[in-house]
Amino acid sequence: MTSNQSSEEQEALKKTASEAALQFIRDGDVVGLGTGSTVRYLLLALGERVKSGFRVQGVPTSKATAELARSLGIPLLPEEENWPIEVAIDGADQIDVNFSLIKGGGGALLREKIVAAAARRFIVIVDSGKCLSCLGHPMPVPVEVNRFGWRSTAQRIRELGWEGKIRKRNGEVFLTDGNHYILDVEIERIEDPAKVETQLNLIPGVVENGLFVGRTHTLIVGTANGVEIRRAP
Ligand code: A5P
Repeated sequence: MTSNQSSEEQEALKKTASEAALQFIRDGDVVGLGTGSTVRYLLLALGERVKSGFRVQGVPTSKATAELARSLGIPLLPEEENWPIEVAIDGADQIDVNFSLIKGGGGALLREKIVAAAARRFIVIVDSGKCLSCLGHPMPVPVEVNRFGWRSTAQRIRELGWEGKIRKRNGEVFLTDGNHYILDVEIERIEDPAKVETQLNLIPGVVENGLFVGRTHTLIVGTANGVEIRRAP
């Protein structure tokens, strides 16, 4: 959120961007359903369409999304399939000028990346406050790590020059849907997101990280002047 944007304004922009994304879903599509407060608006709008006879099948990227989708009557495909996803729609924590993303603020980055990779098109919905020239501080890169030896994994990350902080929620170590931990890794300026994404994923013990590079096909931004729809550069 930019400093001159109130949280009500930000919510309104998230909602506008989400509702604009509906035009990219066709009757009969298999749709990847992202996670987070922006996607929540998409699910609410999609649920309304489904009630009036629109046919979609969803692939949820988290238990939370699955639960909300089910409560809205959106049919879901089983977890272990090779899904024919036409379009996946998801939020982001930051997006840069080349449409690289930081994701995983909600802890769903692993399933989100699997679903984005399986989709023919990956559409990102954000409010304008998340669009930056360069990824990095103050948003850490979430790194999902196996619990076995996680302190050693944190040390390997430290050797690359970055400090990872174990994520906690309500005083307890946060566990992902895949039963892993998350290290929130502070990186000041991420000039080369593809390099950092690869460097992190090459460390044994790292399951996945929240840098999404070269995956975004279309970006939908809610701005104070309306919705902007941009194709990847
Ligand atoms: C979930 O793990 C994240 O990747 C979210 O997609 C991202 O944090 C955006 O969330 P909001 O829409 O709540 O800002």
